Amino acid sequence: MSEPAEFLGAFAQALAGMSLYGDGHPARERAIDTAYQGLLDLQAKHAHPLFTFLGDEVIFGRLPLREMREWGWSSRLAEAGIQRLEFADHVTRDDFEVFLEDVLSRLTVDGIDTAEARQLRPTAIKFGAVGVRGGGEALAEEATLPTATITFSLGEEAETIRWLHDEVQQRESLPLAEAEAVVRSLSVAMHGDRQMILPLLQLKQFDQYTTTHSLNVSVLSMALAEYLGMAPADVRAFGVAGLLHDLGKVRIPIDVLTKPGKLTPDERVLMNRHPVEGARLILASEEDLDLAAVVAYEHHIMLNGLGYPQMRYRRSCHEASNLVHVCDVYDALRTRRPYRDAWPVAQVLPYIEGRAGLEFDPQYVQAFIAMMRKWEAQVAVIGDERAPLPASVAAAVAAAPPAAFPPEVRPESH
Ligand SMILES: [Fe+2]
Ligand SMILES: [Fe+2]
Repeated sequence: MSEPAEFLGAFAQALAGMSLYGDGHPARERAIDTAYQGLLDLQAKHAHPLFTFLGDEVIFGRLPLREMREWGWSSRLAEAGIQRLEFADHVTRDDFEVFLEDVLSRLTVDGIDTAEARQLRPTAIKFGAVGVRGGGEALAEEATLPTATITFSLGEEAETIRWLHDEVQQRESLPLAEAEAVVRSLSVAMHGDRQMILPLLQLKQFDQYTTTHSLNVSVLSMALAEYLGMAPADVRAFGVAGLLHDLGKVRIPIDVLTKPGKLTPDERVLMNRHPVEGARLILASEEDLDLAAVVAYEHHIMLNGLGYPQMRYRRSCHEASNLVHVCDVYDALRTRRPYRDAWPVAQVLPYIEGRAGLEFDPQYVQAFIAMMRKWEAQVAVIGDERAPLPASVAAAVAAAPPAAFPPEVRPESH
């Protein structure tokens, strides 16, 4: 068993021991000692361990702890408002005990009275809810010691997606576990601070567009789903759908994808097949991913029935497709493509707003714009390598004067 898993096991044992035995009982003290030792052992390797409890899953740092998948405490902790748990340097045994008592009081309905203990002193342990939905509970404020904010670059995630696209291209099979791990990791990056963060990758090379775009659409789709109050499992299903919406592009030659000029009719036909190809690839690999397959199929179909693939008869698209469609166009327009410049963010939102009811479902347009206005300051524009770019870059982009676009030029979203 890995150290993080061992620590969690001892942590749960300590909570169980403390609910059974009163202060000073040797069994209680032993259970606390063991868990504290587990923490020290863990910190010998990971100075600032960070756990996230997302429903039935446990994320350590940014990776899921697969061995803890069936660990019932994860959802109990999450339900009790402890979705995130972070340890700073030098946690003392006393700090640790105060922390355990506090956790226990949150877990038990008419719990042990720890009011006295809780007023005690700051500890080097932070925990609390993640996300900003419903003005939810902020992280516990006990901590005065500085704890590291997560710094992320999404370099590993981008690497995983490049690998995943290669796998699909060569073997026609989709490594679902890795796709889901990337989505979890994005979800953790988004909730890594007290406020929601929208980590959006900046495109460096045209040939990497599908990778950065997939990650961005995943982040935006999850953010919008969360903003709309969806349950965590649904939020992540939307994240997977966003991540895989352009999977069919693995079938398109790179020189067509990165062509600076207008596509020939043949190339256009090839390009317009990516939704069908994507849906087919997803369904062939994973029956469980029907939502992602539907989204891949429908993400270029407009509300008014135009777009592609052409429908034989008019019907509504899935809600998830409508939601991803808005996020897709937003990210496509704010990115520089071989055939046009990036649009300033200040111009993208009015464009999307103007197409509500034609191309986009108005309810998602409205929600998307409200969300971007609310979380504007929390957009982190980052590179896909180690060094994150400062968030001020995003502000500079937003403040740039809008470029002029001849009205007859419909901005290709691809
Ligand atoms: Fe697409
Ligand atoms: Fe796309």
